[in-house]
Amino acid sequence: MQLVHRVTDLRAALAGERDVGFVPTMGNLHEGHLSLLRLARNSGGPAVASIFVNRLQFAPNEDFDRYPRTLERDCELLQEAGCDLVFAPDESELYPEPQEFKVHPPPELADLFEGHFRPGFFTGVCTVVLKLFNVVQPAAAVFGKKDYQQLTIVRHMVRQMALPIEIVAGETVRAADGLALSSRNTYLKPTERDEAATLSRELQKLATAVHDGGHDMQALADAALASLSARGWQPDYVAIRRRSDLREAAAGGPLVALAAARLGSTRLIDSLEF
Ligand code: PAF
Repeated sequence: MQLVHRVTDLRAALAGERDVGFVPTMGNLHEGHLSLLRLARNSGGPAVASIFVNRLQFAPNEDFDRYPRTLERDCELLQEAGCDLVFAPDESELYPEPQEFKVHPPPELADLFEGHFRPGFFTGVCTVVLKLFNVVQPAAAVFGKKDYQQLTIVRHMVRQMALPIEIVAGETVRAADGLALSSRNTYLKPTERDEAATLSRELQKLATAVHDGGHDMQALADAALASLSARGWQPDYVAIRRRSDLREAAAGGPLVALAAARLGSTRLIDSLEF
């Protein structure tokens, strides 16, 4: 496995390669990322991962500075998972000058849920993802379903910009008690770890309620919000939406439940298709 830090070295390493499979990450990798990398290996060409903590998608009050940077360990894990090339640029390489051209996703998709609580977040995500796509030029790129709104927005961007990239969705990898694996789980205090699985249980309860005939999506989501609050969480949102565009939905179609909530000082997000 090769580790490169510069765009020119990445391009040289990939010269002549076709069918590149790509997983963009911010590092501090766990089994969820590695499952995405294994999907990227199905593309038929080299499997490439990027590791870059993207300042553009963090608000000034967020955890950019304390976001764990664990490059050595990440590279060991990627090598074991069959990665061929890691691109780990520093900020001056990916943003050698202030990034003034940005991708602004449409408000109907990007100003709700995560975008409502983290204004500008998806502009930061789309801008770096498009830039990484331009640098890596993958045939396929893999995004996890845990970050469902991100996956949806990237799919829409690729379609509307006619990028020749297949977006592959990776299933959420969960701990035995259901907690979705996330780099931010490392912020949880030992006393919070058991409670953290409640978020996925609430999503599971929503899916069961709809399967059992519940059709008032707002009432179901409100009950989940109240239940989380009663257990000491500070929920940002819980919602049931149409999978394709996250619009309000009736029971019957392909749906997804999405949630974000703070437990102590840790903000967790999760989603569940049903
Ligand atoms: O999901 C993430 O880790 C990030 O949002 C991504 C896609 C790597 C862009 O910085």
